[in-house]
Amino acid sequence: MTAPHERLRARLGDPALYLDDPADTARYARDWIGKYVGTAPLVVRPRTTEEVAAVLAACTELDVPVVPQAGNTGMVGGGVPRAGEVVLSVERLNAIQAFDEASAAVTVQSGVVLETLQGYLAGRGYDMPVDLGGRGSCQIGGMIATNAGGVKVLRYGHMREQVRGLEVVLADGTVVSGLNILKKNNTGLDLKQVFIGSEGTLGVITRAVLQVQPAPEAFQTALAGLSSRDLLPALLQAARARFPRLSSLEFVDGKTVAYVRAADPDLRIPLDGDHASLVVIEEESASGEAAGEAFATGLESLLEDGLIADAVVAGSEAQARAIWRVREAPTEAVSRRGLTHKFDVTVPPGVIPAFLGEMEALAEGFAGVRVVLFGHLGDGNVHVNMAQEPGLADDDFLAMESALADAIYGAVHGRAGSISAEHGIGVMKRAYLSLARTPAEIALMRTLKRTLDPKGILNPGVILE
Ligand code: FAD
Ligand code: MLT
Ligand code: ZN
Repeated sequence: MTAPHERLRARLGDPALYLDDPADTARYARDWIGKYVGTAPLVVRPRTTEEVAAVLAACTELDVPVVPQAGNTGMVGGGVPRAGEVVLSVERLNAIQAFDEASAAVTVQSGVVLETLQGYLAGRGYDMPVDLGGRGSCQIGGMIATNAGGVKVLRYGHMREQVRGLEVVLADGTVVSGLNILKKNNTGLDLKQVFIGSEGTLGVITRAVLQVQPAPEAFQTALAGLSSRDLLPALLQAARARFPRLSSLEFVDGKTVAYVRAADPDLRIPLDGDHASLVVIEEESASGEAAGEAFATGLESLLEDGLIADAVVAGSEAQARAIWRVREAPTEAVSRRGLTHKFDVTVPPGVIPAFLGEMEALAEGFAGVRVVLFGHLGDGNVHVNMAQEPGLADDDFLAMESALADAIYGAVHGRAGSISAEHGIGVMKRAYLSLARTPAEIALMRTLKRTLDPKGILNPGVILE
């Protein structure tokens, strides 16, 4: 019996469509954090929607399992092959096809890199409402398939809120073209919603219409230090009230700052002293002195109320970038030091201080594991990173995942939180789906999967076991 990828390669014919040299395919088989590593005997790289349709039709006919992949920055193991599946990379579907300024909407293929789209829009006075640290690699198709969040959710929402239309190819090769550009189009079932956040299990996204925002005239960016983590919920409440165009409110725990400094001695922290927590506060504003003064007045009121102990305001774009670097550095620092179990969870913002303490206490029970805490304060989204310390063998560290997950998700569930805030379920969290969804919801998910992909060729084992 020939292997599935060999059946597909024979059918495809055209070698320009795929990679099969292990030296070329290895990078598609390993995820960004180096935790999920498989083999990819065949990586298919279509250039058009029609080619995607032909590939998927052949996969269904020949029983070939496929893992869709975009920028491969996902954090839950859903975009890399686990059992030698064929990878379908959308990276060559990378054209920005149309910009309709009156509709404030852009039509893109799914392999467009976020940073490329941001640059394109900036040149036209517009901005993408979703931004995240992986911007240089993540692609629009992957962001839609995971319903990515990022650092501006509190103002603009997730990817879901930006998508006006989608073109999706189903497992049998049917192209479902719903490239709606209208802001209002209330005509029956909103089919695109089924595919947003479906992590490659229901169809391959090939094109999207995204709504965009006029670029703000200016940003006001500050880094604030807190004397106690207990102040985080009150700070969130006050920041929402006092900065009317608040676009980001992000935190890095004080102990995490110390950890990152040790891992990256070049990291400059633009605020002196040690703080229990550092918080990035960013507001979109008009240009000019008045906007800067209003922002400074807001910060002063936070100081007067004792919500923050100190703050520094960026006076230039370079200084704003240095502030953002403090927030984005922990992701790289944990990866540089070793493997990480990344638990991306939401809890009601009021319980964040207690939850952070609980995570620290819990980590103490796992020798060789360091807890690294940061996240999106504005959304109650805590990134609990359980990071491998030097001296703990990879296998021993990986074997700890289920004990850590049981304890962490138990705590999250107990606090009425969610086991996935923005990274999705992938393979990492599928065993815990029942903590977040009712049996009837999971049964409906299975019905949808069976209907759209009867042979189960699309990303088997992702979301649903
Ligand atoms: P991939 O990793 O390639 O794929 C992700 C999932 O989508 C997989 O299940 C895959 O099968 C599926 N998929 C990919 N393309 C398609 C397609 N065309 N059709 C159907 N399914 C598809 N996430 C956040 O939400 N917020 C953050 O702030 C954030 N910050 C990050 C910072 C860094 C430094 C990094 C590396 C990642 C970060 N992420 C963040 C993780 C995040 O999930 C991804 O960056 C992004 O959403 C995934 O895009 P991707 O193109 O890399 O997708
Ligand atoms: C972030 O907010 O920095 C990301 O989601 C990435 C991560 O969790 O490390
Ligand atoms: Zn995040």
